[in-house]
Amino acid sequence: MLRGRIIGTGSTTPKRILTNKDLEAIVDTTDEWITRRTGIKERRISSKTRAEDTSEMATAASKRALEMAGVAPEALDLIVIGTVTPDRQFPSAACMVQKNLGARCAVAFDVSAGCSGFLYALSIANNAIATNNCRNALVVGAERLSGIADWQDRSTCVLLGDGAGAVVLTPGDGNEGILSTHLGSDGSLWELLYASDRIGGPIELPEILDTVEGRPFCLKMEGNKLFKKAVCCLADVAVAAMEHDGLSCDDIMLMVPHQANLRIIRATAERLSIPMEKVYTNLDKYGNTSSASIPIALDEANRKGMLKEGGYVLLVTFGAGLTWGASIVKWSL
Ligand code: UT7
Repeated sequence: MLRGRIIGTGSTTPKRILTNKDLEAIVDTTDEWITRRTGIKERRISSKTRAEDTSEMATAASKRALEMAGVAPEALDLIVIGTVTPDRQFPSAACMVQKNLGARCAVAFDVSAGCSGFLYALSIANNAIATNNCRNALVVGAERLSGIADWQDRSTCVLLGDGAGAVVLTPGDGNEGILSTHLGSDGSLWELLYASDRIGGPIELPEILDTVEGRPFCLKMEGNKLFKKAVCCLADVAVAAMEHDGLSCDDIMLMVPHQANLRIIRATAERLSIPMEKVYTNLDKYGNTSSASIPIALDEANRKGMLKEGGYVLLVTFGAGLTWGASIVKWSL
């Protein structure tokens, strides 16, 4: 049986760091509140004057992943990007990345699945490989959430950050690579997290944020209700993935969860009986980067040498839609 095997990872985040202290000058918040309630200390914010738009970050992350994989852009036959913040409504961020890379033989498209975008994209690419429709696939999660943040809403703007991560997939021999992907959605709860029209037109940004490029809509969230739902969905879908592949929590080498809130991650790990030493977190540095959070974390863990060949990696996510998903990867890089 064919499976997608990850043979390269890459990521990038914008240069500009916005700390919790910086946010104290923008909204009525404190470093203490943000740290205690979320685990976030700082986040990266794109600049409109640097090459840090969604497709540009996606391109930079993809180049790193392709370099590690030793795959030329012309050898790609599929590019799938999970994003809710493409540069434009259309064309897709994936088509922009195709152009930037010179990946002229690839089919390219985006997937909109909130923070689950990367795992949805991974599932599509893995299925294309499993059915022999694709040899080399580029799977990306890329977001510029700073442009859709409501910088007057302290309950959401403190959470968000920008960045991109990518993996390159190629067919494996059946015993290694992506063992399974499990996805779920519940559109009846869409109002817990959505993009709304900005009331009063374009945003007026304080000076400290003058390089942020705003959009005509912004993110709205019912954080409290979402929190409870997130913990249940993450734990349930992770258990479904492990049971499907005949694994127990003890078999997991590293859990790489979506980085929304440290308390959500801790509660999920506790439900799964996975010790925090086996859970990768980096939201203290980047905040919630939606679709980008898992591939950025995976790339960091990989480059730090935390992923050993033959070990099982559990990827698990939850986000707007609502959507959720998990995947087990038998690491083979
Ligand atoms: O990416 C996937 C989807 N996202 C998630 O899954 C996120 C899920 N939700 C969360 O992470 C948390 O609910 C938040 C971090 C968003 C909020 O944390 P919380 O512990 O649920 O706080 P809360 O919303 O219950 O608010 C508690 C208090 C409120 O004040 P009162 O009403 O108790 O006086 C808020 O107004 O904290 C206040 N508050 C703040 N205070 C200082 C809300 N935001 C802030 C802030 N600084 N930034």
